[in-house]
Amino acid sequence: MTVPPRASTPVLLQIDAILARLTGRSALAEVCRFLREALPHYRWVGVYRLDGGTLVLDAWNGPEATEHTRIPVDRGICGQAVREGRTVIVDDVRSAPEYLACFLDTRSEIVVPIRSGERIVGEIDIDGDRVSAYDASDRAFLERVAAKLAVPVLRAAEEPPRDV
Ligand code: SME
Repeated sequence: MTVPPRASTPVLLQIDAILARLTGRSALAEVCRFLREALPHYRWVGVYRLDGGTLVLDAWNGPEATEHTRIPVDRGICGQAVREGRTVIVDDVRSAPEYLACFLDTRSEIVVPIRSGERIVGEIDIDGDRVSAYDASDRAFLERVAAKLAVPVLRAAEEPPRDV
């Protein structure tokens, strides 16, 4: 599946509109919800915030909650994206030994760092139920989304802790 350029522009504009009226975790939750609605191959969408050496789940939208609400950066595909400072695409999670299983039907995953300047402050994590669900067009699109999310992620860090 891909994100054609003609589809990405209206979605990015809609995300701008969300971020104009919401911030912090409520903004992140609405962006997660909207991404799933706009792009059905995004089956589960979450935003983790980097807190020291731990990724903390700040917002998500999908059919099920994950038990992985806190992930040390030395673990999982989520940790790999932080350690390597790059977007990670896994075509088939069954052949990725570092993969932390969340959902039985996940087959592929994309994790995109969120940066404030050079510093990684969080990441977008998306799961799909088909092998090779994500390609370079998803990466380009989601890196543009991630560039918009540094401000709400930093704001979420100032909000009282809350289970999501
Ligand atoms: N699969 C991730 C863990 C997070 S769940 O997908 C929501 C990983 O391997 O880091």
